[in-house]
Amino acid sequence: MKIQIINGPNLNLLGIREKSIYGDSSFESYFATLQQRYPEHELSYFQSNKEGELIDKLHEVGFDYDGIIINAGAYTHTSIAIADAIAGINTPVVEVHISNVYKRETFRHKSMLAANCVGVIAGFGLNSYRLAVEHLTEK
Ligand code: DQA
Repeated sequence: MKIQIINGPNLNLLGIREKSIYGDSSFESYFATLQQRYPEHELSYFQSNKEGELIDKLHEVGFDYDGIIINAGAYTHTSIAIADAIAGINTPVVEVHISNVYKRETFRHKSMLAANCVGVIAGFGLNSYRLAVEHLTEK
């Protein structure tokens, strides 16, 4: 299966940024372990700090990939444009968060994207991504 992981703003700083919340591993090193774990699947990774680039990637892969895993970072809580992009494509999208957003500030409790996604996985650290891969690839 072809699965695209999309990370939004500030997630390029994983391993450096607020380690007590997001851990001390970079996404690149975690992604390498994920690829090793699922050699039978084609996993791709894209990160951008720009809303429009996230939307362009959703459009690019959203009609022929088998699944998309998105952590839109803070855009999760604000972006009607990303929500519309998810609604407009055919590929199922799983929303993920590293932290348990429901334990944090109330502005993080609302997701603009969730209603257009298959489901939401939050609070399992980087394992949230693996759980999303498990869902998308389960037989
Ligand atoms: C996050 C949670 C968001 O509220 C925050 O803005 C992020 C990361 C997470 O993975 O826990 O950038 O999406």
